[in-house]
Amino acid sequence: MWEVITRSRKETINLGYTLGRFLKCGDIVLLWGELGTGKTVFAKGISLSKGIDSRKVDSASFVLLKIYEGSDRIFHYDFFRIHSPDEIVELGFFEYVEEGISVVEWPHYLIEVLGEIPFLEVFIEHFNRNWRKIRIISSHKRFKTTINKLKKEYRG
Ligand SMILES: Nc1ncnc2c1ncn2[C@@H]1O[C@H](COP(=O)(O)OP(=O)(O)OP(=O)(O)O)[C@@H](O)[C@H]1O
Ligand SMILES: [Mg+2]
Repeated sequence: MWEVITRSRKETINLGYTLGRFLKCGDIVLLWGELGTGKTVFAKGISLSKGIDSRKVDSASFVLLKIYEGSDRIFHYDFFRIHSPDEIVELGFFEYVEEGISVVEWPHYLIEVLGEIPFLEVFIEHFNRNWRKIRIISSHKRFKTTINKLKKEYRG
């Protein structure tokens, strides 16, 4: 587990960017946090690290999945409006998973169906106005080195 405070949108983008550099095809990142905490901002950072124009990255309501082509493909999910894990399976989540990096906002239904599949979690909380407390956690061996590299490389 690693905890960091970001003091601006830009710092959160940079944190996502630094993490993104160490992510590879097949990785799954779950973004937890209330409305407007910065999940999409974090996803922009990850996408930037793969050479994707971050202006393309948003989480418009009713769009469950956006796909961005970069040095790795990014599958950006927003499951705020779904009502069951079945919708995730029907959408093709498990068919896509090895085709790129999956970045998931509102992953509460997804975790019900992930089973043994490894994932990394990012918890974002309001700290004060433009500050966010961000915790990066994974119990899976695959991501231990990812988190260690991030700790070493992140410069604020
Ligand atoms: N330190 C910070 N990190 C990230 N965003 C910040 C920070 N400080 C202020 N903000 C602002 O908070 C907002 C975060 O919006 P964002 O769309 O990323 O939230 P979200 O968690 O994806 O919300 P939703 O659940 O509606 O999808 C942006 O307007 C951003 O500019
Ligand atoms: Mg969002």
